[in-house]
Amino acid sequence: MRQALERSGALLLVLPAAAAAALADLKTRSLALFEAAAAAKAGFCDPETLTGYRRVGIEYSRVPERPDLMESLSYCALYRRRLQARAEGAVHQAWLAAAATAAARIDPLLCAVMAGLAAGYGRPWPADDGASPFALASILQVNHYTRRLMTRALLQDSHEDGNLLTMLSADGPGLEVAAPAGGFVPVTPPAGQILVFPGQIVELLTGGAIRALHHRVARDPAIDRRHSVMYFGNPAPGVRLTPWRGPAGLELSAMAWANPRRYGLPLIRSDLEL
Ligand SMILES: [Fe+2]
Repeated sequence: MRQALERSGALLLVLPAAAAAALADLKTRSLALFEAAAAAKAGFCDPETLTGYRRVGIEYSRVPERPDLMESLSYCALYRRRLQARAEGAVHQAWLAAAATAAARIDPLLCAVMAGLAAGYGRPWPADDGASPFALASILQVNHYTRRLMTRALLQDSHEDGNLLTMLSADGPGLEVAAPAGGFVPVTPPAGQILVFPGQIVELLTGGAIRALHHRVARDPAIDRRHSVMYFGNPAPGVRLTPWRGPAGLELSAMAWANPRRYGLPLIRSDLEL
């Protein structure tokens, strides 16, 4: 695990059948919601946490004049009841249930990768009490790109993620990752597999031995629509993370909770849990 991420910057994992089924169901439920009337989508958003539906925005773009050209749906277990309060019909309810299931099926993979990394660096992690240190504050996000919105060559500008690890599946080309020799190379996880790549917090956790993988999303003229799902791994409230290597004293959990602000999103706050 450690060597793979230090050398190649990303991993491909085979999805267990239950996780693949959960992602397939989430795609069906997400497309139903993205194709719903604008008012039905706009109402399914918690304004405090920005979970639920978000229209085309500036999440990863460098300047407001270059918004990311996709719609998205986000789920965080910490805020589930807040979003539940905004769910008004069967399409919303079905999406929430599908998102919760998908997050619960993917989280064990995140736990396994983090446990493997900890072992690789000789660190005890985590206490084996059966509870995930990530499930509560990790964010599941579904991005929906359509031809109508794909009006530029780059749909998301280059960026690093501000979390521990990102786990990504997609049904078509578009993702490009920074190559060690420079430039970007296209990477599309094959069906039934999920791409795992490091964010800033794993880079700081490992003292830079594992580097955050810069990535972007480019338009492929051959496709009319692209659907991707990301699971952004974050430490849950109360989980303390300090560097395994390198400078001590960094409170990495606090950084992870504040990092969504870098992308125009609210920071992660346990006091917003209903
Ligand atoms: Fe990203």
